[in-house]
Amino acid sequence: MLKLTGIHTYYGNIEALKGINLEVKKGEIIALLGSNGAGKTTTLASISGLVPPKRGEIVFDGESIINQSPESIVSKGLIQVPEGRHIFPDLTVLENLKMGAYLRRDKKGIADDLEYVMSLFPILAKRSTQSGGTLSGGEQQMLAISRALMGRPRMLLLDEPSLGLAPLIIRNIFDIIRQINLEQGTTILLVEQNANLALRVAHRAYILTTGSITLSGVADDLLADEGVRKAYLGG
Ligand SMILES: Nc1ncnc2c1ncn2[C@@H]1O[C@H](COP(=O)(O)OP(=O)(O)OP(=O)(O)O)[C@@H](O)[C@H]1O
Ligand SMILES: [Mg+2]
Repeated sequence: MLKLTGIHTYYGNIEALKGINLEVKKGEIIALLGSNGAGKTTTLASISGLVPPKRGEIVFDGESIINQSPESIVSKGLIQVPEGRHIFPDLTVLENLKMGAYLRRDKKGIADDLEYVMSLFPILAKRSTQSGGTLSGGEQQMLAISRALMGRPRMLLLDEPSLGLAPLIIRNIFDIIRQINLEQGTTILLVEQNANLALRVAHRAYILTTGSITLSGVADDLLADEGVRKAYLGG
């Protein structure tokens, strides 16, 4: 469904991605793992058109998206939940959710999807008239994911959904990520530093080290591999 071939992305003359190859098949959850500064966010920004790569090819659903605008890429159903959530703090929860559907005109579908995200995260229904900025970190992450779902993504790009959250909330959010994948068939590219957690929900994973993919494989195999455990999973 999504294929990156030889992606090189720069900030000025700093080469942040040094020839990334990565494939996500329809219906998969793929984890993209790596430590601070490895290039995970840059990979997502390269896909979503926010930081266009200098070289390489990105094909989504059989079509090259590499020189397209972020708006055009979103309109194809490739929707990103950014690192640090970036919800609209002064809009209410409900207004934030409706912003996620701004490209849609199907009123009935929008209403159904509102109901669906509120069933995934019942706390959002309780907080619907509260301004986004007053939500807790975990609630803001739930809102950010839900806002993305309101755009009916065919593929979701999630940038470190666990960042700064308590273990119980993280588990809840990861359970929902898997549920979205199963129920809606949404393909997911999950960026995480928390490799242990991500490998438990993902089908396959890629490990990124300073701009290059250094390892990839089936998530269960990586979890079971002693070398991987030592290097990436804290023993
Ligand atoms: N706007 C920018 N200008 C210049 N350099 C940047 C910019 N954004 C990122 N970089 C550099 O590119 C490299 C990759 O950064 P990136 O944000 O993709 O890492 P990351 O894997 O997402 O890290 P983290 O886990 O900390 O979010 C880093 O060396 C970073 O300093
Ligand atoms: Mg990042």
